[in-house]
Amino acid sequence: VSFTFGCPAKDIVANLARRGSRVVVTVTSAAEAVLAAEAGADALCVQGAEAGGHRGTFDNPARPDDMGLLPLLRTVIATVDTPLIAAGGLSHGNDIAAVLVAGARAAQLGTIFLACPESGAHKLHKEALTDPAYPGTAVTRAFTGRPARGLVNRFVLDHSEAAPAAYPHVRHVTRDIIRAAAQAGDTAAMFLLAGQAHRFAREQPAAQLVRSLAEQARAALNQAIHRWPTG
Ligand SMILES: Cc1cc2nc3c(=O)[nH]c(=O)nc-3n(C[C@H](O)[C@H](O)[C@H](O)COP(=O)(O)O)c2cc1C
Repeated sequence: VSFTFGCPAKDIVANLARRGSRVVVTVTSAAEAVLAAEAGADALCVQGAEAGGHRGTFDNPARPDDMGLLPLLRTVIATVDTPLIAAGGLSHGNDIAAVLVAGARAAQLGTIFLACPESGAHKLHKEALTDPAYPGTAVTRAFTGRPARGLVNRFVLDHSEAAPAAYPHVRHVTRDIIRAAAQAGDTAAMFLLAGQAHRFAREQPAAQLVRSLAEQARAALNQAIHRWPTG
């Protein structure tokens, strides 16, 4: 069972454990990692600022931590002993190899799967991931009231500054607008969640993508040692 946007109380984690579940909590800072470790989480998903989708930040009104995945991993490793899953901006097996070497037990990838046929993302969302018309991504509260990283479109530019830290209230306000935009094929007002490595998302079956990520990671781990200067 995985949690985001906060950490369950110790007794909830213990109850899940008694029923045979493993508990994962998404964290975006060392302070959150301490709380999740103290609650008894089996593993922490360490979400770097590069990640697509909502930031897992516990305290919504607080400014989200903007630490990138590698420094965040290092900081969390120095703080807690709990096994870590690294997430944020990973799009290739070489990236997976990098976070395993950095000390993560596993890697979690989201955006790179959005273009797969199994993904329920809107066709225009899938196409926008590789469309050079999109200058990049930003973290915004404009769509839901919680910080989320997505492609920068007109809605993000117009509403990010005024958006309050009110989740899920803002989501209720924007839901119909987003739905109408998707029906009209107007990507300027769609919620185009994406991480910083969105340009590498390609349409291919998810199983094939997983296989190639694993092969790339294995090869990268073998090759890296040979790149190290000898003597
Ligand atoms: C479209 C989308 C939906 C997501 N939904 C969830 C979710 O429901 N729960 C969750 O814990 N994380 C969710 N995430 C975040 C991922 O778990 C992960 O942190 C992120 O995708 C990793 O960064 P990447 O997208 O750059 O690979 C979502 C991410 C995306 C892109």
